[in-house]
Order: sequence, then C-alpha cells, then structure tokens
Amino acid sequence: MRIPGLSDPHVHMREPGATHKEDWASGTAAALAGGFTRVLAMPNTDPPVVDAATLNIAKKFAANGARCDYGLYLGAGPNNPSLAARLADQAVGLKLYLDQTYGPLRLEEISLWNAHMQAWPATRPLVVHAEGRTMAAAILVAALADRPLHIAHVSTREEILLVRAAKQRGFKVTCEVTPQHLFLTAADLPGSRGEVRPRLASQADVDALWENLDVIDCFATDHAPHTAAEKAAENPPPGFPGLETALPLLLNSVHTGQLTLEDLVQRMDQNVRRIFNLPAQPETWVEVDLEHRYTLTAREMHSKAGWMPFEGWAVFGAVRQVVLRGKTVFMDGQVLAQPGSGQQIA
Ligand code: DOR
Ligand code: ZN
Repeated sequence: MRIPGLSDPHVHMREPGATHKEDWASGTAAALAGGFTRVLAMPNTDPPVVDAATLNIAKKFAANGARCDYGLYLGAGPNNPSLAARLADQAVGLKLYLDQTYGPLRLEEISLWNAHMQAWPATRPLVVHAEGRTMAAAILVAALADRPLHIAHVSTREEILLVRAAKQRGFKVTCEVTPQHLFLTAADLPGSRGEVRPRLASQADVDALWENLDVIDCFATDHAPHTAAEKAAENPPPGFPGLETALPLLLNSVHTGQLTLEDLVQRMDQNVRRIFNLPAQPETWVEVDLEHRYTLTAREMHSKAGWMPFEGWAVFGAVRQVVLRGKTVFMDGQVLAQPGSGQQIA
C-alpha cells in the first residue's frame, strides 16, 4: 500500500556538537528508513541555532549531510527576539523552550516569551516546549499576542484536555504527540533509559491521549538520540531515538484498529504541511506492508543511538520502499540516498 512521504515536525540531529550521537547523514538515513521524507530540526545543537552565524553553520552541515528534505528551527534566547524575527524567512519556525530540557535554551520570564511572540512574524509557526502549568501560561500569552501556537509533545491527560478546551474557545492552538507517550508508561521503562522530557506518564494519561485523538494534530517523533552508554551512565541525558519506530508502531495501531490509515496520514503528512506551511513534495511516496509482522530491534537501526525503547516489540507494518522526488531513496532495508541530496525548505 502507498502512502505519502511523511514529515516529522520534531527531530534533534546533534550536528554540530555531538555527532557521536547523530549527524545529518545518519539521522536522515534513519528518517528515510522510517518513511519520513522531510524532517524539521530543532535548534538545541552545540552551538544552538540562535543568530545568523549559527544558522549558517547549521545550514552548512545540513546541506552537506542530509539525505531527505529538511527545515531548520531558530531557538528563542534571552537576547534575540528581533534578530530571530529578521531571520524568520530562512527558518521553518521559532522554538521556545519554556521548561527545562537538554541543552542551554530556556526562557524563564513571561515578558521574554511575549517579546518573542510579538516580534516573530504572525504567519510563521511558533513551537513551544511547555508542560503542565507552563503550557496553560503559554496558551494565554500566545492568545494575548494573537499568535498561532504549536505545542510540542503533549503527554498528559490535563494537557490534552487543556488543548481541547483552548481549541473549543477558538484559540489558534495546535499540538503534537509522540509515539513514546502513546505507547509507554513510566512503569514500562524504569531506570535511566526511561529518562525523557516530557517524562513518561501513567496509564490514565496514555488512555486520555488516545481518547482525545481528534485533538492531536500531528504525530512527531521528538527523535532525541543519545548513545546506550550515555543512557546507562549516572545522570543520563533525556531523550529517545524515534524516527525508525514511529511509523511501524502507528501502522501496528492501524492493524489493531486503534487508528485508521487516514488518521495516520492526516497527522504525519497533511496537518504537518498545513501547520508549518510546507510545500508538497512531488513524486514522493512510501510503500508500506501492513501485513508483515516482525520485531523492532536496534540492530537494524540507521541512527547512531544504537538502542531503542521499543526493543523486542512485535509489530505489523513495515516500510518497503521510499521514493523522494522521483528517486528511490530506501528499498528493503537499504538507504540509497546520498548525503547532501536533501533540500532545505524554509
Ligand atoms: O527528552 C528530551 N530530549 N526532550 C527534549 O525536549 C529534548 C531532547 C534532547 O534534545 O535530547
Ligand atoms: Zn525535542
């Protein structure tokens, strides 16, 4: 069966700064193997992408390494509201970290959130990492600034109900949910490997996400690779690789009847394109096999992470072939696209 090439609005590529975890060539190989022909890359690299100089560095690494199409986010910092706004047409969106996560980007003060939201062009996407009460505050500040807001990785019952209520009120809010928050609870992955932001939650939270599927605009991986050794160490960094497991897990949900294929394509293609103003990709599609049952394992991954939170899960739903702009870029387990063949969209 053929589905469109998928777009992931939330990935961490780690280049520059931590290429032992991932680089553009390995991360976009993982994307293609997972049915994604386009990824939107987060700015919490080292250095973070916050001005013209660091954006140019990110562009250079992406242009040299990417095997699929990509967009780059700018990061909101304490000193760059007007600077970031001037670079808006070269970026796919502005990312605001309002809660603590991996990397140095975090905005403490609401006046700074407001400065960024006011300065950033109203027609371009604003994405927030904002959990719990912070999410409630972010929705209010964006509404006061009259800006559309995309909320990254909604993970709890109270959050999804808040997004539902905001939408019902007519607020311009959209959201994404990750596979880890749809398929795992904190009890499934105790210990250091389970560290991720937002944290894995309870079964009641997982159930609430599925019950409110109509409120979820996008499925995003939040592909956040760290190596197995790093995850086993003291104070492990938070994050899971996700590009190669998202589509198989969600196709498995189509197999079990939890989801329709149309639900999936809306959230992994159409809605992502609409929210992020992405152009259509001509002659681009993914051949999936809904009947093939197999076991997910890190041994077959293209990501440098070398481990996965879904190791040993049996799923129905495999990616057979990926065609990007008329070229076969993935076939039967092999990535065929060369580094540098991906194109930037902005
Ligand atoms: O678990 C996470 N890891 N959550 C984030 O928001 C950032 C990410 C990372 O970059 O490792
Ligand atoms: Zn992230």
